[in-house]
Amino acid sequence: MSVLSIEGLKGGYGEVDILNGVDLELEAGEILTVAGTNGAGKSTLAKAVVGLLPRVEGNVRLGGRDVTRLATEKRAQNGIGYVPQVANVFPSLTIVENLEVVQGVRDAKARIAEVFSLFPALAERKRARAGRLSGGERQQLAYARALMTRPRVVVLDEPTAALSPALVADSFSRIASLAADGTSILLIEQRARQALAISNRGAIMDGGRVEMAGPANELLNDEKAAALYLGRYST
Ligand SMILES: Nc1ncnc2c1ncn2[C@@H]1O[C@H](COP(=O)(O)OP(=O)(O)O)[C@@H](O)[C@H]1O
Ligand SMILES: [Mg+2]
Repeated sequence: MSVLSIEGLKGGYGEVDILNGVDLELEAGEILTVAGTNGAGKSTLAKAVVGLLPRVEGNVRLGGRDVTRLATEKRAQNGIGYVPQVANVFPSLTIVENLEVVQGVRDAKARIAEVFSLFPALAERKRARAGRLSGGERQQLAYARALMTRPRVVVLDEPTAALSPALVADSFSRIASLAADGTSILLIEQRARQALAISNRGAIMDGGRVEMAGPANELLNDEKAAALYLGRYST
């Protein structure tokens, strides 16, 4: 059954529609990659899913429940985690404090230990202020914050964009193991080939629409997808 179901989603920031009718399904424990050129509407889709887009039509369902009109915090309580494209952390707080301030966490202490086991580099520097972290470390911290509530669905908006090439593979394997543990992942990525390689299914957006969608291996082998959308990162 779909954990996240997006149906006829339209909307934007003002009067102009940026999303022009998006339909997508994310199954339990699956990774769905959403690729597409800059400006295709991928981040706007992420915002609509988590409740940060000012105007939406259509439906977002989480485990069958319609959450389209719910506030962002309520959606988070219902199991949606979100890591925005520009990592959102509190620079004046330490790493561990950034985790402690996440609301609605059961057994926060135990959960912080679990999250640190996923991000040993953060654990080592847990008393460092977030403002002193590199872009990649900040991204990891934003990701760690999103996992604190044990979300059913995580929306990751270009999680590898700020990473050095050496850390990209590490990030993809972290995402794969999160899914293997049963978390469903909506993965927005420019590195479409690498993302599809760990995904069950993929969708390619263009002009606020899903232009192509299907099993990840089919998209990887599709000539039109390769020619038009998968070219930028060759690996
Ligand atoms: N805060 C905003 N206000 C108005 N327009 C925006 C805003 N953010 C993005 N847009 C516009 O929405 C379109 C899609 O952007 P975005 O969803 O960020 O694309 P992508 O993430 O695929 O690169 C672009 O034309 C962009 O200019
Ligand atoms: Mg974007």
